[in-house]
Amino acid sequence: MLGQKIEEAFNEQINKELFSGYLYLSMSAYFLSINLNGFASWMRVQALEELTHAMKFFDFINERGGRAELHEAKAPQKEWESPLAAFEDAYEHECFISNCINDLVNLSLDEKDHASNNFLQWFVSEQVEEEASVDEVAQKLKLIGGDGGGLFLVDQELAQRVFTPPAAAK
Ligand code: FEO
Repeated sequence: MLGQKIEEAFNEQINKELFSGYLYLSMSAYFLSINLNGFASWMRVQALEELTHAMKFFDFINERGGRAELHEAKAPQKEWESPLAAFEDAYEHECFISNCINDLVNLSLDEKDHASNNFLQWFVSEQVEEEASVDEVAQKLKLIGGDGGGLFLVDQELAQRVFTPPAAAK
C-alpha cells in the first residue's frame, strides 16, 4: 500500500515527466522551424522517453494500490535564440529533474517505504544518463560555435538516435 505523501509526490512527478516531454517536443518543433531535422528527431525521441518515465510512475502508483492523477499541463517555451541555448535549457531542466528524484528518494527513506526507494533507483541511474547525453550535445555546440559545417555534421549525427522502449532496453 502506498502512503499518501508518496502517492501525492509521485503524482506530481508524473506531471513533471509529462512536462519534460512537452518541453522536448516544443524544442523539436523549434529545430524543425530552423531546418535542423536531425536535432528535431533527437528531441522527438527524448520526448517519447519522457512519456515512458511518466508511465513508470503511473504504473507503479496503481500497482501499489494508489490512484494515478493527471494534473494541468503547463505550456512550454516555444523559441530559443540558438541550438546551444535550447540544449543549455534542456541540461538545466534535467538537473532540476535529478533534484526532484533525489527529493523523492529522501521522502521514501523518511517514510520507510523500501519498495518505492527500490523503484526510484532506476531513475537515479537514468538521470545520470539524461544529464550526460544532453550535456554532450551542448559541449559539441560550444566547440563548433557558429560554424555551419559543424552544425550540419552534428545534425546528421543526432538524426541517428532511435527510440528504444524501456522494456526492451532494461
Ligand atoms: Fe525523465 Fe529526462 O528525465
